Amino acid sequence: MSRVVVITGAGGALGSALASQFAGEPDTDVVLSDVSEAALAATVESLPGEHGRVETVTADVSDFTQVEAVVARAVERFGRIDVLISNAGVLSPNGRIHNLTTADWERAFRVNVLGGVHGIKAVVPVMRSQKSGSIVLTASVSGLTAWSHAAPYCATKAAVIQLAKVAAVEYARDGIRVNCVCPGTFVSAIHEGLPQAAIDAIGAKHPLGLGSASELVGAYSYLASDAAGWTTGTAMVVDGGYSAP
Ligand SMILES: NC(=O)c1ccc[n+]([C@@H]2O[C@H](COP(=O)([O-])OP(=O)(O)OC[C@H]3O[C@@H](n4cnc5c(N)ncnc54)[C@H](O)[C@@H]3O)[C@@H](O)[C@H]2O)c1
Repeated sequence: MSRVVVITGAGGALGSALASQFAGEPDTDVVLSDVSEAALAATVESLPGEHGRVETVTADVSDFTQVEAVVARAVERFGRIDVLISNAGVLSPNGRIHNLTTADWERAFRVNVLGGVHGIKAVVPVMRSQKSGSIVLTASVSGLTAWSHAAPYCATKAAVIQLAKVAAVEYARDGIRVNCVCPGTFVSAIHEGLPQAAIDAIGAKHPLGLGSASELVGAYSYLASDAAGWTTGTAMVVDGGYSAP
């Protein structure tokens, strides 16, 4: 029986790298989801020549019924879900707290936090009935360190880390592991509009320099696999040394 991996935010830089990684792993089928149909299509185009079966579903993770529909499609097509990678996320506007609007905060919470909550809520009934499953949430090193001018992003990513930990405790006895990855900065569309000087300054704070999405997929592959069978509730930092000092 093939393993079934569902990935949200699959149209982005990290999501696309994750899609290639998992679709290329042996006996693995993938369900790729993103709010952008065009981005999803580009990800499918970029998959390696040899890959498992692929299903795509356009969905907005901030809307629970749309996330439920992704899970329903995965079960309808493949009969099970072994891994959920909740990866969709947005960066909040650059600004100090007194300059950010309630709408800025709401958007960050709806996508970054509720997106993860919706994924867990939708997939847990399936994984509980299988008595197995692995959920990996994309948090950020910004959930562990303070970034000036990015309070909604930092606060929502800290919430994602706690969400993973609480879910790990709640569902351990159901055979479901829940972990998150805390990446340092890798260049992606999320940084659109940031001046190059700002990106260079962020890069200079990473002892190993800026990362790339391909340098992150190994952590997800491990957390999703049976090799991580005794790993749950962890926030795995992959940040080129950013948080070490
Ligand atoms: N790039 C970085 O430096 C960095 C660092 C740490 C964590 N992250 C996290 O990694 C994840 C992937 O980001 P990325 O850098 O690849 O950015 P990206 O912008 O390339 O990808 C994000 C994807 O999420 C999708 N998306 C946005 N809102 C959505 C919604 N409401 N519903 C469904 N999909 C939605 C976008 O269409 C996009 O394809 C995010 O959670 C981000 O916060 C990124």
